[in-house]
Amino acid sequence: MSYIEVEYPAEKAEFYRLLKEQISLYTEGESDETAVLANASAVIKQAFKETNWVGFYLVDGEELKLGPFQGRPAVARIGFGKGVCGSAWQHGESLIVDEVECFEGHIACDCNTHSEAVIPLKNKEGEIFGVLDMDSVLPAYFTEEDRLGLEAAAEEISKRLFG
Ligand code: SME
Repeated sequence: MSYIEVEYPAEKAEFYRLLKEQISLYTEGESDETAVLANASAVIKQAFKETNWVGFYLVDGEELKLGPFQGRPAVARIGFGKGVCGSAWQHGESLIVDEVECFEGHIACDCNTHSEAVIPLKNKEGEIFGVLDMDSVLPAYFTEEDRLGLEAAAEEISKRLFG
């Protein structure tokens, strides 16, 4: 399969419709976790030009372990409740951080990062099995509209894995 570059519009509803379509296209017929998450991280990274890191952390006992991602090397393990990722996992909800330096306990991986979005991934039973983590070089890059759009994208990814 060869990747065809798509032009993402500024208008958010259409942007997220296209994002979901692209995730669906590049994960079609696949249910392996690594294969699905690797392509999903690539699709999302392509769509958000101002992101410097897009990837997944997966629940592994009492920790999150690094999964497929696009960006600079990152911390391999994050404890429950630690950093932005561990907090989103602990509270079971998406977190949008406008300026990471102001988030107590933030785990810095790339010093260029200013804002961050972490979206929990839930299985069919509603249990969190991982998180989608996105970093941007711009402060306050992620909006409430993005939170909703990314939660829909996360659902699309979970559907591929769990049906
Ligand atoms: N900043 C995250 C750690 C992961 S890196 O951003 C890739 C956190 O505080 O959980």
